[in-house]
Amino acid sequence: MGRKSRERAAALATRKRQAAEGITIREARPGEGETVRQLLLPVDPEHPDVFDPLSDMIDSGLVMPPDRGLCLNLVAENRDGKLVGALSAVSPFDWITGSDQLAQPFKPALARNIATIESLAVAPQARGMRLGFQLLKHAEAQLRESGCRLLIVDFEPSRSHLARYYTEAGFRLLAYGQPLHIGLLPGVILPRPSHKDHRTSWKALTEEITLEPALMTQGPDMPPVPVPGGVLVGVLAANHMATSSAT
Ligand SMILES: CC(C)(COP(=O)(O)OP(=O)(O)OC[C@H]1O[C@@H](n2cnc3c(N)ncnc32)[C@H](O)[C@@H]1OP(=O)(O)O)[C@@H](O)C(=O)NCCC(=O)NCCS
Repeated sequence: MGRKSRERAAALATRKRQAAEGITIREARPGEGETVRQLLLPVDPEHPDVFDPLSDMIDSGLVMPPDRGLCLNLVAENRDGKLVGALSAVSPFDWITGSDQLAQPFKPALARNIATIESLAVAPQARGMRLGFQLLKHAEAQLRESGCRLLIVDFEPSRSHLARYYTEAGFRLLAYGQPLHIGLLPGVILPRPSHKDHRTSWKALTEEITLEPALMTQGPDMPPVPVPGGVLVGVLAANHMATSSAT
């Protein structure tokens, strides 16, 4: 790189750093639903309606009932008051309630311990400042404060750059289509299925979560095999484990 190019790159980096310094990350407010929806469109351009419910929820100011788990909608606002980034995270409540491996009373507890990043986007003109990382960092801190222990993100192969992005943000990646296995009690493993083309990544928000080798049975007359990718232990907090019972 020549001297002029280096100077241009340094000037650009300075402008971006200054721009990033003027950013406020906060929860989305009623009236901002449509702006958030517009920001999130690039996450799923083929399904422009997919964020309508989220937009309505933000505008209504509705809060998730505690027994349905966690819900967080963050926005990044620049110094001119313009929204330039959004992140939404929610507990995987439907998967947890549909599982028959955990007794009913403990499903809300597990739901509150896990959140999935449903969408993350930065406006094209604001990219390059790692605003997405700032949104992720805030989300992690806020979710952790609410008792969340595990954060999950799924993405499609067409977004292969996200593998590097989320790895840099501290997530661990599973192979394409590989389910995430969550150890509830000794010998009780709850698999979270993944779409065959999707890739799941996860990040522990507490040091109490460990990834451990485990065996699982595939059928009544078949020998146990190692769980691919291992099992996450400690997702259900110890105080819940002590009183929970698998069905
Ligand atoms: C993913 C996204 C949120 C990242 O925004 P950001 O935090 O501002 O990220 P930056 O633009 O600062 O880029 C961070 C790094 O990711 C890389 N990156 C970002 N988008 C990329 C792309 N489409 N292809 C390849 N690399 C990409 C950048 O090159 C950069 O790496 P570098 O620092 O080594 O150069 C933003 O690109 C976006 O909104 N994309 C569309 C929606 C989307 O795909 N969301 C993720 C689905 S959950």
